[in-house]
Amino acid sequence: MSAVAVDPVARVFAPDSVGRTVHVRGWLLKSRSSGGILFLLLRDRTGSVQVTGKKDVLGAELFDATEHVQVEGAIEVEGAVAEDPRAPGGREVRARTVRIIDAGLPFPIFQEQTEEFRLDKRHLVIRSAEHVATFRIKAELLRAMREFLTAEDVLEVTPPILTGNPAEGGAEAFTIDYFGRPGYLSQSAQLYLEAMLAPHERVYALTPSFRAEKSRTPRHITEFQHLEVELAWCDLDGLMDFIERMVTSICHAVAERRPAELAVLGRAPEELLAIRPPFPRLPYEEAIARLTRQGFPVQWGSDLATAEERALTLEEHIPIFVTHFPRELKAFYMARSPGDPRTVEAADLLAPEGYGEMVGASCRETDLAALRQRIVDIGANPEEYEWYLDLRRHGNVPHAGFGIGVERVVRWMLRLEHIRDATPFPRTPSRHTP
Ligand code: 4AD
Ligand code: MG
Repeated sequence: MSAVAVDPVARVFAPDSVGRTVHVRGWLLKSRSSGGILFLLLRDRTGSVQVTGKKDVLGAELFDATEHVQVEGAIEVEGAVAEDPRAPGGREVRARTVRIIDAGLPFPIFQEQTEEFRLDKRHLVIRSAEHVATFRIKAELLRAMREFLTAEDVLEVTPPILTGNPAEGGAEAFTIDYFGRPGYLSQSAQLYLEAMLAPHERVYALTPSFRAEKSRTPRHITEFQHLEVELAWCDLDGLMDFIERMVTSICHAVAERRPAELAVLGRAPEELLAIRPPFPRLPYEEAIARLTRQGFPVQWGSDLATAEERALTLEEHIPIFVTHFPRELKAFYMARSPGDPRTVEAADLLAPEGYGEMVGASCRETDLAALRQRIVDIGANPEEYEWYLDLRRHGNVPHAGFGIGVERVVRWMLRLEHIRDATPFPRTPSRHTP
């Protein structure tokens, strides 16, 4: 039977399929039998369909064997498409013959199991309808990001993951033994993107980034997909314009191309279509004033923790930028604000409804001495950054860039309780298997 062309399950529901013979194959979602008839729900990548098998058609031996195929076992079926109002979608495949590819062992996943058990069995749990919908949406999001960046003439490049100096300063870098010398897993591709800017002017990279933070929060994972963009000749307003256009374009792409998957997760496409520029731009100073009025014990210089970010965005339905943070709160490479030496030309994009930071953006410090001093100030060794400082010596031009956490976007878009469900095999301080 496998020599025959196989039909996708979705073919069963095409307008002209009733009465035709199809060959479908996939995994069993459900199976039951009653009175000499088997009712199977068969899933492939295109959908699911009811398959019925009669003992007198299949023969007793094959009927019995098929009856013993477990949930998530794999079979191939040849049969005729028939209308049946009782079947999901109103159609079924009446099996003429079945080939058992893997009868499978009893599937160990049930709804009411503990989250720990489900994380241990993640390799099986990811077959659930919710995970399937999530990772199709994530793929659509990545595609939309690449389409947007290609249309904007931004070049995709491939920076390293194994590095000799930490990009964000060091505290949260995973260290590795690199043949007897210290090495780090990349926290950000930014420094390499800055190096590639001179010949290409507009570059981006999609890489895994690693953060050795022991933060057990619903928005931290230790390995995440990081999309980073670096643009020459760009200032902070230009950068925020770019970010809001990109976020809008990916929200619209997902809404238009994945309505069925959004429905599985209870998100209305209209809500994503309502995301459009301009996004509010709130200076840090005003954010602090607003939070103080709301009773938060914050003052100029306080970092915005989860509770504060939440308070700023709870009532919002589109993302907002918080800009011009105190420089002590931010990374060493950020440019001082021209009008205020206490702040940096930086913006964080916060998701609406309290989901927190999705994008970190800034203009880069171009002054060699100031940059070197900041490296010293954070307690790092400027020698290790000598190659990066070199960029300020040869064709040093104004530039800016940002990093967007893909799982943070997915979490907000799908209103997931925890970021770990935005990635198939989450890495957290307590888990790096399966
Ligand atoms: O704000 P971050 O640390 O900025 C940078 O790394 C810059 N070098 C980016 C750049 O300008 N090229 O990280 C950027 C984004 C955050 O806004 C967040 O969305 C995500 O990366 N992120 C995380 N996502 C999940 N888990 C974590 N532990 C994350 N840490 C950062
Ligand atoms: Mg940040």
